[in-house]
Amino acid sequence: MSGPSLRKQHSHHSIHDGIYTEARDLTTALKETFNKENNKYREEICDTLIEHWEKRTLAHAQSEEEGFFEEKMAENPDLLETIIRLKRDHQLLELIVKKIKQQIEKEGVTEDIIAYFEALLIVFDIHNEAEETSLF
Ligand SMILES: [Fe+2]
Ligand SMILES: [Fe+2]
Repeated sequence: MSGPSLRKQHSHHSIHDGIYTEARDLTTALKETFNKENNKYREEICDTLIEHWEKRTLAHAQSEEEGFFEEKMAENPDLLETIIRLKRDHQLLELIVKKIKQQIEKEGVTEDIIAYFEALLIVFDIHNEAEETSLF
């Protein structure tokens, strides 16, 4: 997920695409558990989804911040503002994941949690588009 694959537009886009698709499918699966009486997989799917955002998305963001963004700035110092905004997006994703965990700790996996997972998808999508168009 790190290294040269971040530096090529096509492979970076594929990383975003893979993460987004898996998160979207898991979110849909979680939503569906609220339509069924049998919801024995709800907690499990929710845990998998949180783990997905933490292990894939936040790890991807971290690897960008640990080298890729610096390299882009060295090539073009005008990107400073853009990179500050992109880092803020990463922070928002992290904050939403934290909120989800706090909410679940308080109330368990209720239907309200879906809005947070949908917010993650939207922020991630907007962020990726900005990243792909501004850094390549
Ligand atoms: Fe990013
Ligand atoms: Fe990225």
